Amino acid sequence: MSRIELRKDAVALVTGGARGIGRSVALAFARAGADVVVADLHDSDGEALAEEIAGLGRQALFVHADVSDAAGVTAMLAAIDRRFGRLDYACNNAGIEGAQGPTAECSLENFDRVIGVNLRGLFLCMRGQIPRLIAGGGGAIVNMASVAGLVGFAGLPAYCASKGGVVQLTRTAALEYAEQNIRVNAVCPGAIRTEMIDRITGTDPETVRQFELLHPMGRMGTSEEVAGTTVWLCSEGAAFITGQALAVDGGMVAR
Ligand SMILES: NC(=O)c1ccc[n+]([C@@H]2O[C@H](COP(=O)([O-])OP(=O)(O)OC[C@H]3O[C@@H](n4cnc5c(N)ncnc54)[C@H](O)[C@@H]3O)[C@@H](O)[C@H]2O)c1
Repeated sequence: MSRIELRKDAVALVTGGARGIGRSVALAFARAGADVVVADLHDSDGEALAEEIAGLGRQALFVHADVSDAAGVTAMLAAIDRRFGRLDYACNNAGIEGAQGPTAECSLENFDRVIGVNLRGLFLCMRGQIPRLIAGGGGAIVNMASVAGLVGFAGLPAYCASKGGVVQLTRTAALEYAEQNIRVNAVCPGAIRTEMIDRITGTDPETVRQFELLHPMGRMGTSEEVAGTTVWLCSEGAAFITGQALAVDGGMVAR
């Protein structure tokens, strides 16, 4: 495979970057030659990842941030300004699944929490990132949606609503900032083997197999597969792609 081409000395931000898919995205950005900012609630994992990235020869910064908190997002972006003075790419990945259960049993608290992190939090991040990308002459944003933003999943009403909203925020910002050389795309993973999917399946082998069989490829995806697509969407290879919601799902939504 030819090397992914990012801007020289680019700075990439990954929210929810300490664990799971975000961790793989952060490492993939570093391997592609970017300096990386990891934002998350988990300080020890985030700090350890920043050290690992430094070991790859790139600069890294961990910032403690809750994306659902407007002041926290402002502080996160200010920390990037102070340390790097630029932002080229952002992967808005922080997300939670919330409680499982049908719509009539979804508590208002659960609905508000999931929307607050996955949709409102992602909006707060994009709103702060866009002016910085414009100041640097453009860049790319990849929002972590889900196949649950493309089709319904029984038992996850708030999650599906939040991810559908992420797809629409993505399309809207893509239209608004295309002329300013900012590309905005969403990645829509199928089931990816992370702590989140372990929580959803309870790691019960029967349930895990059912999840695997949702994908025509007969397996779940890996964080690295999602990371590869994410960093490629930021690269020169994807220079004419914006406003897309790209499923990385082993064929699930092609059915
Ligand atoms: N795993 C899957 O099957 C799957 C499928 C489709 C989409 N996704 C999406 O991918 C993203 C990452 O999922 P994952 O499986 O790696 O989850 P995960 O739970 O394994 O990791 C999520 C990370 O986000 C961080 N985070 C959570 N809330 C945050 C907040 N308010 N502020 C900052 N950081 C926060 C967590 O601390 C953690 O490090 C999520 O948006 C998720 O909805 C996951």
